[in-house]
Amino acid sequence: MDGAFCFRNGTQLSKLIDEAGIITRDLDCCNHRPAVASLLRLALPHVNTMPPSENLVNEFGYARQLLHTDPGGRFSVMTLRWMPGACTPIHGHNAWGCVGVLEGEVGCETFAHKTRDTEPGVPEAPCLVSTGKLLAGPGTVATVDPDPCGIHRIFNPTQAPATTLHIYGMNLEAEPEGLNKWYQH
Ligand SMILES: [Fe+2]
Repeated sequence: MDGAFCFRNGTQLSKLIDEAGIITRDLDCCNHRPAVASLLRLALPHVNTMPPSENLVNEFGYARQLLHTDPGGRFSVMTLRWMPGACTPIHGHNAWGCVGVLEGEVGCETFAHKTRDTEPGVPEAPCLVSTGKLLAGPGTVATVDPDPCGIHRIFNPTQAPATTLHIYGMNLEAEPEGLNKWYQH
């Protein structure tokens, strides 16, 4: 990153959005995810945004709020609030994604496709196996590739709410339900 991406002087969310707009407009699309992740890593300590209202918390214990969609539809920014005990269903994303922790701690469990052994002549039954868990605190940035890679679930194993900031390479205003592909485990 060069000086154009310096966030040391009081950056707000709007600057992060502006810089993500430049990256997704000017770089080859295969570089968007790593470049936006580097940007988010620099910006995260300086971003100050209100978390989604806890009135929006869903049956899985989290709330999400869309903050911005790029006018060209190349990316969207949203924030999520994770209540203690929250846990998403297992899912993949239909776009690249970058996730940063603003407040509190969240866990992520990753999964991979595996083929179940079956009787001869019976079609193979796909299933998911856990490939690991991690706990992430403020300032941590993680990225995810589009499904079928990057299958995961996010959870809050702590006693305090957590807030995360997400950037996805798709237009979530046009397709508010188009981001996630849900799996049964
Ligand atoms: Fe996710």
